Amino acid sequence: MRILFVCLGNICRSPSAEGVARARAAALLKSDHYVFDSAGTGEWHAGDPPDPRAVSACAARGVDISGQRARQLSNDDFRTFDLILAMDQSNLSEITRRNTGGSATIRLLLDYAPHSANREVPDPYYGGDDGFEHMLDLLENAMDGLFERTGRPPRAL
Ligand code: 4NP
Repeated sequence: MRILFVCLGNICRSPSAEGVARARAAALLKSDHYVFDSAGTGEWHAGDPPDPRAVSACAARGVDISGQRARQLSNDDFRTFDLILAMDQSNLSEITRRNTGGSATIRLLLDYAPHSANREVPDPYYGGDDGFEHMLDLLENAMDGLFERTGRPPRAL
């Protein structure tokens, strides 16, 4: 199962989601059932490492995202990935608009966290450190639901 996390810049939310997903899958599942990647709809930060605030907030929870580099969502992604997960409604609309007919299922990440009060992972870029903690709370909570539900094909959601 190939899963791509997508946000706007690919320097805060989606690299954190990729890191949290990889760390939790390794710890909980001990299998290579999943391949994870992340991308941004925007191109401004392509080639950049994640935002230092995201790197340190992840590190404090035992997740190393320092080696990641941002990239923009590509047309191939719609054919390469089984599941493309957007952080917010704006990302979802933009991803859907760009889909040129690939077979990937495209959804909000928090569709997989039905007990969460939030439907979107808010963009922490312009805010303070508490935004990064809130982001990580939402991401950690979402991954358990994601793994539970993608033990079977994602279309069964
Ligand atoms: P992200 O946050 O989408 O979670 O990576 C952002 C990072 C950069 C910008 C916007 C959002 N930006 O406008 O540069």
